[in-house]
Amino acid sequence: MAKKTVLLTGASKGIGKAIKEVLEASGKYNLLTPSSSDLNLGNLESIKDFFNDQHIDVVINNAGINILNPIEEISHETIDSMFHVNLIAPLILIQKAVPFMKKQQYGRIINISSIWGVRSKEFRTLYSATKFGLNGITKALSRELGEYNILINSVCPGFVNTELTKKNIPFSEQEEIKKNIPLKRFAEPSEIANIVEFLISDKNTYITGQTIVVDGGFTA
Ligand SMILES: NC(=O)c1ccc[n+]([C@@H]2O[C@H](COP(=O)([O-])OP(=O)(O)OC[C@H]3O[C@@H](n4cnc5c(N)ncnc54)[C@H](OP(=O)(O)O)[C@@H]3O)[C@@H](O)[C@H]2O)c1
Repeated sequence: MAKKTVLLTGASKGIGKAIKEVLEASGKYNLLTPSSSDLNLGNLESIKDFFNDQHIDVVINNAGINILNPIEEISHETIDSMFHVNLIAPLILIQKAVPFMKKQQYGRIINISSIWGVRSKEFRTLYSATKFGLNGITKALSRELGEYNILINSVCPGFVNTELTKKNIPFSEQEEIKKNIPLKRFAEPSEIANIVEFLISDKNTYITGQTIVVDGGFTA
């Protein structure tokens, strides 16, 4: 069977790197994994320059940023970058890929959201706004694109052992959080990658429009 072409953002580290490794190991995909300098998701011009009518079978919107702030301290620059990287860029990448997917009557789209896209926590106003928004895109487009055999899902990780987590949560707080996770530990990036691999595979023929929470039971 011909290899599917996957566009994966944010593959340099963390969850994206794990997704890249799992998909590479399967041998089933041609991977496009632009770095943030090849494709800067904070800049719409960069997205326009990147796309040259590539045929993309699978889009995985993984890149994301999480700048925590109390409401009074949120700057316009932070609003701008969080919305561009986490919400607007994923939307535009989907928009660019869909015409080809429609033509071939096949497509798979994954939006990496977060548990803070199904519930929230202090200082995550922008993060939750963007991640709830991403889940909204998933739901609306599952309805619009289902008849073209384009399946779209959000994967919502809980706490994952990545640089983003280390940066945003002090070590002592991490140990406290683990006590409230039924599985008593954070996820490894590969555990998120394995779910993504399943959702884009030919084994998934009927899951679409879902927000799939992968959090060791934290939000249960
Ligand atoms: N870690 C967690 O616990 C957790 C939990 C829930 C959801 N998530 C979500 O999972 C996704 C991946 O998170 P992670 O923890 O793996 O993050 P990470 O380790 O900080 O990696 C983020 C990735 O996004 C890329 N990126 C950031 N800004 C970009 C930009 N302007 N243009 C293009 N690429 C950009 C980074 O590229 P550079 O290396 O070039 O900066 C990097 O590859 C994010 O959407 C995050 O919100 C993470």
